[in-house]
Amino acid sequence: MEPITLFKDKRILLGVTGSIAAYKAVDLASKLTQVGALVDVIMTDAAQRFVLPITFSSVTGRPVYTSMWHSDTGGGLPTHIAHVGLGEGADLFVIAPITANTIAKLASGLADDLLSVTALAAHCPTIIAPAMDGGMYQHPATQSNLHTLVKRGVTLIEPEVGRFASGMVGKGRFPDTLTLIGHIRRVLGREGALAGRKIVITAGGTREAIDPVRYITNHSSGKQGYALAQAALDVGADVILISAARNLPVPLGAALVPVNSAQQMCDVVLKYVDGADALIKAAAVADFRPAQIADQKIKKSHDASEAPSLALTRTPDILLAVKQQRAESGWPRVVVGFAAESQNLLDNAQDKLTRKGLDMIVANDITAPDAGFAVDTNRVVILDAQGAQESLDLASKAAVSEQVIARVVTLLES
Ligand code: PMT
Repeated sequence: MEPITLFKDKRILLGVTGSIAAYKAVDLASKLTQVGALVDVIMTDAAQRFVLPITFSSVTGRPVYTSMWHSDTGGGLPTHIAHVGLGEGADLFVIAPITANTIAKLASGLADDLLSVTALAAHCPTIIAPAMDGGMYQHPATQSNLHTLVKRGVTLIEPEVGRFASGMVGKGRFPDTLTLIGHIRRVLGREGALAGRKIVITAGGTREAIDPVRYITNHSSGKQGYALAQAALDVGADVILISAARNLPVPLGAALVPVNSAQQMCDVVLKYVDGADALIKAAAVADFRPAQIADQKIKKSHDASEAPSLALTRTPDILLAVKQQRAESGWPRVVVGFAAESQNLLDNAQDKLTRKGLDMIVANDITAPDAGFAVDTNRVVILDAQGAQESLDLASKAAVSEQVIARVVTLLES
């Protein structure tokens, strides 16, 4: 995984308890380290029966804490201050996996090992991810303890339904690393610059039906729009993701509104921008659609030289419709468009910025092999309504999105 700004220099305390899912926490520790966090691991005695401390220190490059009573961490905090020092310095305490036993201890304030003592001493937000047999998870004692912790402000990542190591099936499985990281991002970002703001983002290429089988579309994968959604979530926004793309994982916390055609996207955008702080239109919207949609599959005739011709008609220009609605309602407060150009990049982008009444436009040259459609990187020029123009170097779509969102924050503040 590439570094993520949200995690840069963040100190994450990872508590690991005695569940077979402890081995999956190694991947979590590794990925958190890769994205830029400083990960300190505390293991209970039971956790060390499943995984060795050196496994964690190998992936985090940092000491692992296992005891209140002896210093075996190789350069970590001295034992007499570890129980308060670890919690004090942390931005987030994640206990994953957490067993029914540790849940019970935390709910009743017991403090008989380094992990439970640290949980009492820590002032940072706490996330717990239970992993256990389905019967243990559903037991009224566990549920009541979880309820107590949630009421106290702890974030609970619900386990998933699936097959356990025992062969039984139920609710209690440890979520995968990316899901856990999605929850961690939500908590770390919740006080961010867009906290409480509603941001509407469109993504993907619209599909215009020809008949029940065929459609016209374009090469948009949705990657840029989804990266924008994640970047907005990382700074605390409430994100509505209006998507014509289908096969991408939806960033955790985004409200997905699936659409197909330009007309559907137009209707949904006009509905959701009411009361929204910003609209970012990264979707590649079809400008033309078949004038008639055939009710039945169009059949080919036996004459090999014969082919039907397709009459096209215009689709609505969504940004022009938003411009008109915004003139009456005042919403959304900020409108950002994208321009996908194969020639005259800046002139065409400037024309769209003015004509569509945008506050900002992100222009990308779709003829470059490492920018525009479907690839993971983009090279953009950002133009604003005040005449400013800035070229960004080639960067991942995630990094480009962070830049765009930073400018949306500035526009909303001004
Ligand atoms: O999805 P990816 O594979 O990651 O690719 C990203 C991208 C290349 C699709 C993205 O970076 C991008 O450029 N999106 C805009 C594509 C586009 O439709 O550009 P356009 O120049 O045709 O349209 C200009 C703006 O008007 C866009 O914000 C577009 O959403 C909007 N538009 C276009 C047509 C239409 N009928 N209604 C609109 O609102």
